[in-house]
Amino acid sequence: MDLRVSLVEGILELKNPILSAAGSFGSGLEYQPYGDITQLGGIITNGLSLYPCAGSPLPRIAAAPAGLLSSVGTQNDGAEYFIREVLPRLPWQSVPIIPNINAGRVEEFSELAGLLAAEEGVTALEVNLSCHNSNRAGQRFCQNPVTAARAINAVKRFAGNKPVIAKLSPEIMDIVEVARAVEAAGADAISCIGKVQGLAVDVRGRRPVLGNVTGGLSGPAVKPIALRCVWQIAQVVKIPVIGVGGITCARDVLEFLLVGAHAVSVGSASFSDPETIFRIVQELPAVCEEYGIEDIKAFRGSLQI
Ligand SMILES: Cc1cc2nc3c(=O)[nH]c(=O)nc-3n(C[C@H](O)[C@H](O)[C@H](O)COP(=O)(O)O)c2cc1C
Repeated sequence: MDLRVSLVEGILELKNPILSAAGSFGSGLEYQPYGDITQLGGIITNGLSLYPCAGSPLPRIAAAPAGLLSSVGTQNDGAEYFIREVLPRLPWQSVPIIPNINAGRVEEFSELAGLLAAEEGVTALEVNLSCHNSNRAGQRFCQNPVTAARAINAVKRFAGNKPVIAKLSPEIMDIVEVARAVEAAGADAISCIGKVQGLAVDVRGRRPVLGNVTGGLSGPAVKPIALRCVWQIAQVVKIPVIGVGGITCARDVLEFLLVGAHAVSVGSASFSDPETIFRIVQELPAVCEEYGIEDIKAFRGSLQI
């Protein structure tokens, strides 16, 4: 079965619609013991920042019903370390490598884009628009169509011909408005959703469970929100949408394709079982057959209302 997906013609071509989601697959190298990472549609790496970042105080993970609450705070060694030490070890000739970039200022996004896009081994960039905007206390770039567009525009200007994926959060009144704004700013694709902010508390200790107090909810608990966002966005934009949120099996992938996604990213499921994403890739053709799907392009967005 032909599972190939073209996100940007001739530049971002996937052998199947399954990518790893940022923050849950390391750089990709950490998952090599569990499967052949070159068989994935693409690898979206851990979040990178311009400078090394120590991340959130411990603990960083709490259990939640049908998911998990986490706050890692973009712990990473910085973009230059990634370029020098990690990228050369990744099989970038055989699988698209898509760094996920994080910044608090538009200028930082530009600088990161310039550094990473200059690398032959980088196929595209994913911009985490859930980052806090240092110029607007507490607000995230994605919570305002104007700041979201500014960040994407800044990345586009420095990304050369490398495609730019805008990653959106559902924590906004009208995600469609933000999707339109990033498309107009030049985004080549949209991925959604990022984590949904939550709080876990310890009644006995009368304290928050996470060191950062709040964290982001992910896993099957957020899948209905992600499906709704992808469905709404896919109807109004011309660029491809990558669905993210709660995917644990090949049937979940079909749900996202049905509501209009071109591809999907698998996140938290890789924590509970590191072989999950490889199994999904293997099982997808048989599950398509089971549901009578002969052509995933024709199936995409075929939801009947
Ligand atoms: C521990 C952890 C770290 C994450 N780090 C990032 C990140 O750095 N950048 C980003 O855009 N998304 C990050 N995400 C969000 C995921 O990429 C994904 O959007 C979200 O978890 C929903 O997908 P899931 O339910 O399959 O996990 C992170 C998620 C988790 C659980």
